[in-house]
Amino acid sequence: MPLSDLGHTPAEHPPLADRGIGGLWARLRNALFASGAFQRFCVRFPLTQATSNAYARRLCDLAVGFSYARVLHACASVGLFEKLARGPLRTEAIATACALPVAGARILLHAAAALDLVEACRPDAYRLGPLGAALLGNPGVEAMIAHHSLLYRDLSDPIALLRGEQVGGEVARFWPYAETADAEAVTAYSNLMAKTQAMIARLVVSAYDFRRHRYLLDVGGGEGVFVTHAARAAPALRACVVDLAPVAQRARAGLAAAGLGDRITAIGADARTGPLPAGADVISFVRVLHDHDDGDAMAMLRTARAALAPSGRVIIAEPMADRGEGAGPMGAAYFGLYLAAMGQGRPRTAAELQAMARDAGFRRCVAVRTAQPVLARLLVAQVG
Ligand SMILES: C[S@@+](CC[C@H](N)C(=O)[O-])C[C@H]1O[C@@H](n2cnc3c(N)ncnc32)[C@H](O)[C@@H]1O
Repeated sequence: MPLSDLGHTPAEHPPLADRGIGGLWARLRNALFASGAFQRFCVRFPLTQATSNAYARRLCDLAVGFSYARVLHACASVGLFEKLARGPLRTEAIATACALPVAGARILLHAAAALDLVEACRPDAYRLGPLGAALLGNPGVEAMIAHHSLLYRDLSDPIALLRGEQVGGEVARFWPYAETADAEAVTAYSNLMAKTQAMIARLVVSAYDFRRHRYLLDVGGGEGVFVTHAARAAPALRACVVDLAPVAQRARAGLAAAGLGDRITAIGADARTGPLPAGADVISFVRVLHDHDDGDAMAMLRTARAALAPSGRVIIAEPMADRGEGAGPMGAAYFGLYLAAMGQGRPRTAAELQAMARDAGFRRCVAVRTAQPVLARLLVAQVG
């Protein structure tokens, strides 16, 4: 029985006219693609075989992609990549090291090999594959994979989530964004952000030269990983983390250990209402605006605008929902659902953020290329 028959009423609205060359082409394509006879023809006809196989592969990947994510999760949970870090191991040794029965380890290893996470290297032995090795070099990604168990549970009924019937799920409980959130409640998310921040900070700091600035405010700066990178790249820069009070308290403790003396401070403030400390010539929002609904994100941009001198700039760095230059399918298909589960925020395109910056009073807002736009794109908004 198709999923659409499971108690849902069919749409009763007449379709819109699909005009222009684009509409005509799409109607023709969709009529052909939906036809079983055309599909059978394409599979047999030598000139269309490769394209038809590529579409079949994409559709199969979409249908079963959740199991790929669970294989990855299982590998990370048993520490498979760390166990293979020193070299290949036999299946039995892997099974023992990962506390799995040999039969279960074999299933996991076959699956992981199919996904390039590990590689079979001799009969019944495996080494790291290219993706497994890359993961070892990115502890932040492993932390996110583990964290995704919360989202996975929240997505068990995506329709309930989309209907807003699933308020206060696991992801929402993980992010208690309130001045009153207690220190314990913010520890888990602050730790996760700190573990995943270094790769973003490196991207931003190598794309944007902070040496042109004197004083940076990093709004929603978490435990201060980003300001530490910026301050190391720009030795004359002073910086201040602005975050909710319990997070700022954690940042102060961590920053004391960073060895940057009194160049970096941290204060507790609600960035929607401000005021922000005066004197900054650059304010950054790194992975902050997408967590907030339009009203709150606009309020934050306006608060930043009010705190800046006429030569000041705002840096916005986050994964953006543009299909080509941005986070690709992750922008809408992952961040869209993640933020829905969180109960606030939305992934925005660069153009949407640029329009918001202009509405908040910035004269211009330009995109600056980062080396890995899939992780974060960068916008620079100028006051004057
Ligand atoms: C997704 S985390 C990003 C942290 C850090 N910028 C990073 O990229 O690792 C968002 C941060 O914004 C902070 N935040 C949320 N609402 C805030 C508000 N109204 N005012 C100030 N900070 C806020 C959170 O406490 C959290 O540290």
